[in-house]
Amino acid sequence: MSDPSRPPAVGVLDQGTDLTFPPGFLWGAATAAYQIEGAATEGGRTRSIWDTFSHTEGRTVGGHTGDVACDHFHRMPDDVRLMAELGLKSYRFSVSWPRVQPGGSGAANAEGLDFYRRLVDELLGHGIEPWLTLYHWDLPQPLEDAGGWPARDTAGRFADYTQLVADALGDRVRYWTTLNEPWCSAFLGYGSGAHAPGRTDGAAAVRAGHHLMLGHGLAVQALRASRPEAQLGITLNLYPVTPATDSAADANAARRIDALANRFFLDPVLRGSYPTDLQADLASVTDFGHVCDDDLEIISTPLDLVGINYYSRHVVAAPVEGEQPEEYWRAPTCWPGSEDVRFVTRGVPVTDMDWEIDAPGLVETLERVHREYTDLPLYVTENGSAFVDVVVDGQVDDADRLAYFDSHLRAAHAAIGAGVPLRGYFAWSLMDNFEWAWGYTKRFGMVYVDYDSQIRIPKASARWYAEVIRRNGLAAQ
Ligand code: FCB
Repeated sequence: MSDPSRPPAVGVLDQGTDLTFPPGFLWGAATAAYQIEGAATEGGRTRSIWDTFSHTEGRTVGGHTGDVACDHFHRMPDDVRLMAELGLKSYRFSVSWPRVQPGGSGAANAEGLDFYRRLVDELLGHGIEPWLTLYHWDLPQPLEDAGGWPARDTAGRFADYTQLVADALGDRVRYWTTLNEPWCSAFLGYGSGAHAPGRTDGAAAVRAGHHLMLGHGLAVQALRASRPEAQLGITLNLYPVTPATDSAADANAARRIDALANRFFLDPVLRGSYPTDLQADLASVTDFGHVCDDDLEIISTPLDLVGINYYSRHVVAAPVEGEQPEEYWRAPTCWPGSEDVRFVTRGVPVTDMDWEIDAPGLVETLERVHREYTDLPLYVTENGSAFVDVVVDGQVDDADRLAYFDSHLRAAHAAIGAGVPLRGYFAWSLMDNFEWAWGYTKRFGMVYVDYDSQIRIPKASARWYAEVIRRNGLAAQ
């Protein structure tokens, strides 16, 4: 049945019938602690690398910080009510490490844990499944001062912190993901320096990536031992990487970036090994001497699910001698050993982040992980878009964001049709929030946040998503 009130979708992948999702499909929305909570110095919380970074001149647009953010820490019950009104089946949030374990070592902070206990109880009380992410980028500052993720010890600290959270919330949280997007933590945090802690050292980024995965493996083992019934996974941000032309040189550029962006994490976590071509590409950066016996066995401790965050595609080309990098997509310093690869823009529609809109890339990504790596259930743990929003008569008509969700949900449905065991989808984000180095200048929310008044306004996309959830699917075109 067609629904004339819906705008046409872009990137249509399936036509003719209603697109119904499998029974029990987990419809959700996601946020992260530092992006929404605020209350940065309350309840015993201490500084994370993002507090330090955002308070350092020149690091974020406008000097924006997460000090107040969406004030979710104080408005949590209202925010959960809003989730219930939208009919969310699940809510993916992250726990702030420096809130529950100030300083990143030692005893738990009861007041910090209590906030998450109340959040989880509130969710369960509204029939919303809590989905807990242990690490969404807010490393306690003292751990960075002691070496950060490039230092091996941080992995052990992460496992200890995981145990504290498991002890406090393990009786009421079923779904756990350890890390959110370790590629960003490692390569934006320690490689390009665009994210906290802002270091620019390719070798440190590679070590950070390894120790993040080691922390993940140790955390899975700790959770498994104390909560055998929990569903455990990790969230990776994955990209299809396409060569700009069919030349052998561009194919090689694509192989290199695919190794750094995707296989760097997929292979150790799901196969227990690093790709040999990655190790060869990184030969001038590191000898992988930081990898100890048994690390890869720990890193590949069996999981119950894999979370995938999908936003866009990378199109890359081989370096051209003497050519200026004006068509380059981004500062390349987050690609150790492959800094000269060119990121090419294709001139297709982009979001307010300048990320190309590419719904078929979601099908490719899901199919690839299923085909090449695992039969485990997959979840899209983030997908969404920033666009400029305008409030008119108290309403936000975000047709472009709605179309983005629509096209990507059609892609998700197509992937299921192709045999991918996709079990859920989390929109990024529930509400506008602190978009890292971009501060409050980029809006990804289905719910608009007026940062002066903290008033929340569900956008057209939120009302549309509520209807998708209600009918467990989309109308055909
Ligand atoms: C992802 C992050 C999330 C948000 C979106 C836009 O990389 O996990 O916190 O910033 O991008």
